[in-house]
Amino acid sequence: MKRVIKNGTIVTASDKYVADILIEDEKIKSISDQIDEPEAEIVDASGYYVMPGGIDPHTHMDMPFGGTVTADNFETGTIAAAYGGTTTIIDFCLSDKGKSLKSALEKWHSKSQDKAVIDYGFHLQISEINEDVLNEIPEIIEQEGVTSFKVFMAYKGVFQADDEVLFKILVAAKEHGGLVMVHAENGDVINYLTTKALAEGKTDPIYHALTRPPEAEGEATGRAAKLTALADSQLYVVHVTCEEAVEQIAEARSKGFRVYGETCPQYLVLDQSYLEKANFEGGKYVWSPPLREKYNQEVLWNALKSGQLQAIGSDQCSFNFNGQKDLGRDDFTKIPNGGPFVEDRFSLMYSEGVHKGRISIHEFVDMVSTQAAKLFGLFPRKGTIAPGSDADMVLFDPAVERTISAKTHHMNVDYSALEGIKVIGEPVSVLSRGKYVIKDRQFVGRPGMGSYLKCNKFGLKAKDEAKATTLIKN
Ligand code: URP
Ligand code: ZN
Ligand code: ZN
Ligand code: ZN
Repeated sequence: MKRVIKNGTIVTASDKYVADILIEDEKIKSISDQIDEPEAEIVDASGYYVMPGGIDPHTHMDMPFGGTVTADNFETGTIAAAYGGTTTIIDFCLSDKGKSLKSALEKWHSKSQDKAVIDYGFHLQISEINEDVLNEIPEIIEQEGVTSFKVFMAYKGVFQADDEVLFKILVAAKEHGGLVMVHAENGDVINYLTTKALAEGKTDPIYHALTRPPEAEGEATGRAAKLTALADSQLYVVHVTCEEAVEQIAEARSKGFRVYGETCPQYLVLDQSYLEKANFEGGKYVWSPPLREKYNQEVLWNALKSGQLQAIGSDQCSFNFNGQKDLGRDDFTKIPNGGPFVEDRFSLMYSEGVHKGRISIHEFVDMVSTQAAKLFGLFPRKGTIAPGSDADMVLFDPAVERTISAKTHHMNVDYSALEGIKVIGEPVSVLSRGKYVIKDRQFVGRPGMGSYLKCNKFGLKAKDEAKATTLIKN
């Protein structure tokens, strides 16, 4: 199957130019001023940007949490992702104490295969460390293609791991080529503050934010960064929300440590006041770390611009307002944590970032796609438009103005945390490995067309970049 995308403006993390793209089977075969291939299907992309498909390095599909399960599974969640211009997700596989890491991955494979409509990889969450776990890690990296390991420093009694676990994983990751990810909040302090708030009769959603202060995030971020330095390892801090955490990442980076950070669109456009909405509406905005005071939005934009933070994840973790969020109507600690963002991540970053003049279009592509591919061992197969890369791309109309709403979104959840927000720009068609998933704003894919991606080890970045340059030159 051959397809030529004609006359589009190709935009990558480094270049912007008008050219034709020849797709053969699943890959980009060539890029040139003018491609004439008689047997190929022609796609006219005049007036559109042709960008690498988005890579969302932070999703939770079909994930059990707080006695319930996320509203989106790998089918509904990846369909929504595709509508939004994302062609790869990296989902968090949860492991159980006392069971093998391999069995956790098997569980996640059975949730995702035959369901996903776009490609997907896994990060593996680890909450205990023992000989069995340490012995399994090399095999998980080499054979299973899972090269990133997540440690929760919060959610005491559920997912929380202690510093010993974190440190030993950092050491193992250094040795075997993994990247350690942390949810950085001090879970012990939060446990103290939430218990105290409930004893004082403070049960409304706003207390979710007030009992998880930015200092608790800053402290955990700094601790993780220092343990990373001690282990001479590498760290990726997920969902960074505030000045206290950005400062810790910036300090570690200034000293030459490999500490990377992600933030999420919700922290750039919403703030803590949303949790104060009446009639328990504030419950829609409960996730962790919580929304912060508004001044942090500028701190986060500046950190993205200056490269202190590199990537944008959605932290997709959707729960319905009716029947799930409302489990915590009388007790904010019972509200399942998380929100629906996988569909809007790409467009929101384009609109708030590029359209509003905060970031360049290249910085945008870098944040929503290229950086995640590089950090998680998928580059240059994913994350760019170049000969040899997978034909994952978005035909994006930068002129459309629309309003985000639960009435029109495709996530399987009964509200949008971004309801009423206007965005400029829209993915019109989306291709995954050369096949349409979205064509003229309609889903035309099928469950199971997404493939599992084995990620390369951390540290092959420089080599892969060199390979990509050679591919483009030839
Ligand atoms: O509240 C959130 N973010 N839920 C998903 C789990 C996590 O902490 O990332
Ligand atoms: Zn988290
Ligand atoms: Zn998350
Ligand atoms: Zn405008």
